[in-house]
Amino acid sequence: MIPIIMDCDPGHDDAIALLMAFASDAFDIKGVTITGGNQTLVKTLNNARKVLSFAGKTARIAAGSDKPMLRELEVAPQVHGETGLDGPVLPESDLPVEPMHAIALMKEICDQSPEPVTLIATGPLTNVGTFLTIYPECKANIKQIAIMGGSMVGGNWTSSAEFNILVDPEAADIVFSSGIPIIMAGLDVTHKALIYEEDVERIRAIGKKVSTMVAELLDFFMKFHKSMGYHGAPLHDACAVAYLLKPEIFIGHDYYVEIETKGEFTTGSTVVDQFNRTKKKANTKVLLDLDRQAFVDLLVDLVNQYA
Ligand code: RIB
Ligand code: CA
Repeated sequence: MIPIIMDCDPGHDDAIALLMAFASDAFDIKGVTITGGNQTLVKTLNNARKVLSFAGKTARIAAGSDKPMLRELEVAPQVHGETGLDGPVLPESDLPVEPMHAIALMKEICDQSPEPVTLIATGPLTNVGTFLTIYPECKANIKQIAIMGGSMVGGNWTSSAEFNILVDPEAADIVFSSGIPIIMAGLDVTHKALIYEEDVERIRAIGKKVSTMVAELLDFFMKFHKSMGYHGAPLHDACAVAYLLKPEIFIGHDYYVEIETKGEFTTGSTVVDQFNRTKKKANTKVLLDLDRQAFVDLLVDLVNQYA
């Protein structure tokens, strides 16, 4: 089993990514760390606890940074609603929160893991960037960092930047220059990981409480994206998890990627050196395409594991 830490900002797609990870028998989930992003940290933390409890799962869960390293937090209520998880009505959770900061939990897990840990990060990279800055010695026991973020071409929050990277570009710069292998599920692939209405009905037809909740999450998530002209809901964060479970359904390419932190129009962009102009060694596997049907089948199969 792959030892992992999931760092996330639930968020509809984070919530589904969490459920996929917890349903798989391929992962040993050592901890879940929470960052602000889609909503404030208080809300994203509560959302993570509610989703895991509703699904009958427990985990060591710790709150991280409530704002980016140097900038003010930007949230996305237009996408995820005021709660950050609008749509399904979920009961409050009694899942305890670790007293330690997220980066202290990350350190404890990395120090204690007999084999290198995989980090999955599906929100702004503040926690991961801070962790690598304060505990650089832990890099030796981190196998890879699989993120949802960035894009080779274009952005979804500005014309050139994707939300997770834009919220904390300095943290992203630390992560991409850490020397740890990065798997980047950016918009190039996540905008092809579209969930269509018929896929939502397939999930709803499972007819169990968690599958019904997932369908309700997708109903809400679909609304914003349809209003933006998408033909379906891009299930961004699930791509980072799905790649680790079934890399064969993705197409990617290794490139050197660096983060723009000072551009007038381009701050937060992931600058992908497609033609090796920098002559620097590739640090990132940039995911570019996927077998959408296989991705949906994986989602349905994992959701079906729940009561
Ligand atoms: O740009 C999409 C990313 O921003 C996803 O991780 C979504 O959850 C939001 O955090
Ligand atoms: Ca997210």
